[in-house]
Amino acid sequence: TMTPSREDRFSFGLWTVGWTGTDPFGGPSRPSLDPWEYAERLAELGAWGITFHDNDVFPLDADEATVRDRVGRLRAAADAAGLVIEMVTTNTFSHPVFKDGGLTSNDRSVRRYGLRKVLRAVDLAAEVGASTFVMWGGREGSEYDGSKDLHSAFERYKEGLDTVASYIKAQGHDLRIALEPKPNEPRGDIFLPTVGHALAMIAELEHGDIVGLNPETGHEQMANLNYTHQLAQALWSGKLFHLDLNGQRGLKYDQDLVFGHGDLLSAFFTVDLLENGFAGNPDAPRYDGPRHFDYKPSRTEHLPGVWESARACMQTYLLLADKARAFRADPRVTEAMAYAGVGSLAEPTLAPGESLADFLAADEHHDPDELAQRDFGFVRLNQLAVEHLVG
Ligand code: GCO
Ligand code: MN
Ligand code: MN
Ligand code: MN
Repeated sequence: TMTPSREDRFSFGLWTVGWTGTDPFGGPSRPSLDPWEYAERLAELGAWGITFHDNDVFPLDADEATVRDRVGRLRAAADAAGLVIEMVTTNTFSHPVFKDGGLTSNDRSVRRYGLRKVLRAVDLAAEVGASTFVMWGGREGSEYDGSKDLHSAFERYKEGLDTVASYIKAQGHDLRIALEPKPNEPRGDIFLPTVGHALAMIAELEHGDIVGLNPETGHEQMANLNYTHQLAQALWSGKLFHLDLNGQRGLKYDQDLVFGHGDLLSAFFTVDLLENGFAGNPDAPRYDGPRHFDYKPSRTEHLPGVWESARACMQTYLLLADKARAFRADPRVTEAMAYAGVGSLAEPTLAPGESLADFLAADEHHDPDELAQRDFGFVRLNQLAVEHLVG
């Protein structure tokens, strides 16, 4: 039982503990509190920060006075509790106006409405001191391939993202955009389904320098991908701006379970990467942003279970961080990693200064049958991880 503290920099979306259990088959299973009540409770549990969508705090049709009042009350509660508001995002998915998307709806008036809503949330993010602006385009996509000119959809997505990024620069906000991929749900097929697709979109942007990633554990796993690999590639690209930690058990609807309540061994290696960095390469980029949870307390839980599940996310993270530190410090692991060649992958394949011509001309004979006798010992290395995890 490890106790979280501010130094751990754990943060939670207000919509996580604030989810009342509504799903496509039933209504809420618990009451809804005010945003500042969730903030106070999260601070008591040891969280460092909170995040929110515009409409987690005020309704879509709120007038300016209501927006001021509700944002003011939340900020006052966060300040009093010593909480940072580290990320803000926009809800462009709940209201039916967004049923065909916000930035990529076939209806241009909807796109203009959606873009204005996003830009207003950008100013709100800057006002409350957030450093990251997440864009999860959950309604950007389709159910039917014939319903969209897909080329135009990518053009409009790019236009929307570049407009938001250029607005951030023009306003002089100290804010970076983090795109959150997801393969499906609520749309049948969502645009930017994985980290790789989002990286490819960012490479096409004019203002891609301030656009990166917010990868969510379950979303990559819903696409049958390895979350730790996705984090690693985003890091390698200098684009891991933020993350959404949670749990998912296999290829099914988005479960948003407590962190570690899905694939525990995968969660171990996620934490190992976040806490200890790449194993064979101490100079490689590290993630130093918030440890942000985006999960849903299961519908079976009432309020005690809500707080228990938030506590569980942080405790699981701390337990895994502890195990991962012990794993890296274990001399048997050092030896197994050396046997496996983990560190030698950092050595460039060509020698320093070796030209392609030199390489081709080198008098070097490789016998594939001989090379094939190499034993890597990956199984032993993995078993040492399992031993640390459950031993
Ligand atoms: C999901 C997503 C969303 C987004 C959030 C930020 O579970 O499908 O994670 O929860 O992260 O809405 O915009
Ligand atoms: Mn999710
Ligand atoms: Mn998320
Ligand atoms: Mn979520």
